[in-house]
Amino acid sequence: MDNSMKILIVEDELIAAENLSETLQDLGYAVAGIVDSGEEAITATAALKPDLVLMDIMLQGQIDGVTAAATLRYLNIPVIFMTAYGDRDTIGRAKVTEPLGYLVKPFKPQDLQATVEIAWQKHLGEMQQREELQKQQDANQLKSRFISQTSHELRTPLTAILSSSELLKHYSDKLSEEKKQKSYQRIESAVQAMTETIDELLLVSQADSGQLHFNPQPLDLTQFCLELVDQLRVGDRHKHTLNFQVMGTPAHTYLDQKLLGHILQNLLSNALKYSPEGTTVDFLLTYSASAIVLMVQDRGIGIPPNDLKQLFQPFYRATNTGKIKGTGLGLNIVKYCVELHGGKISVDSTEGVGTTFTVRLPVAGL
Ligand SMILES: Nc1ncnc2c1ncn2[C@@H]1O[C@H](COP(=O)(O)OP(=O)(O)O)[C@@H](O)[C@H]1O
Ligand SMILES: [Mg+2]
Repeated sequence: MDNSMKILIVEDELIAAENLSETLQDLGYAVAGIVDSGEEAITATAALKPDLVLMDIMLQGQIDGVTAAATLRYLNIPVIFMTAYGDRDTIGRAKVTEPLGYLVKPFKPQDLQATVEIAWQKHLGEMQQREELQKQQDANQLKSRFISQTSHELRTPLTAILSSSELLKHYSDKLSEEKKQKSYQRIESAVQAMTETIDELLLVSQADSGQLHFNPQPLDLTQFCLELVDQLRVGDRHKHTLNFQVMGTPAHTYLDQKLLGHILQNLLSNALKYSPEGTTVDFLLTYSASAIVLMVQDRGIGIPPNDLKQLFQPFYRATNTGKIKGTGLGLNIVKYCVELHGGKISVDSTEGVGTTFTVRLPVAGL
């Protein structure tokens, strides 16, 4: 039985240990090993990695079962104590190590089984709680990192605005018309950058609090994509070749234009942002009977495999972004918008080669 629970027996009475081992196997458990001292309990647990330890309290050697169990807690291995003693002191000490169960010797096989199963469930519950706590801590950490990053990102355009407006205020008569226009432009693009960051923040908080809704309307999707591609080409100042291609027979679609805009805007601008000048970005729209498939493929920096799993989490940015600016919010927004459409998003990427994002939106129910 490969996936049966592996139990380590810590018992210094040989016959009792062997009986217990047999009973456990009869009950369908695997016995990881039998040891007879507290010291061995610790080394064997580390070496054999049992799922659970059945620990006699009174043991030979320097340390007893209670002391050994205290150490095993750090290894996250659940311990059940076995004792023949009603000794209050021992039980009091045992409690401190938060064992997951007690068995008072002699015990019946069914008591053993019930105690093991209950202890195992408790252990799983504890592990789950710990995992959730860890997730919360990770999320908090991401948020703090984001706050410092965003503050920095908002400060940069603010500094540009301040210095340009100071220049215009104090040296207006000495500046050439061209220099004045440059200053105005710097202010404008700084305001634009800040507006984009703030818009993303608002969207994420709306999505998080369930305020982003799906409002499908009839939409000429091909036309919508064409216009978006034109806009992006202008914004990109033709640094890349942005190819748009349609496959299949265009169908009437009911989609949420606003959400779809967020999806495509983010995927396409990422593809442009994370690929070197002169490369090509392919944008493919496929109509099929059951779905609309939107594919954005670039030949850019790619995404390290370790970053792929967390990519859609708010504020998460891959480790290879270097000096390329961003908030890590775009893909989180994309994911929300795809899910509101009942669709699916997937990513396929090779570092240094390129990335393909594929969005599949169902067209059922038209
Ligand atoms: N086309 C792409 N090529 C390489 N990396 C990408 C691409 N799209 C997204 N990423 C990675 O995913 C991260 C999250 O994307 P996104 O949420 O849009 O945030 P950002 O504001 O950083 O662009 C990016 O920081 C980047 O590391
Ligand atoms: Mg982005």
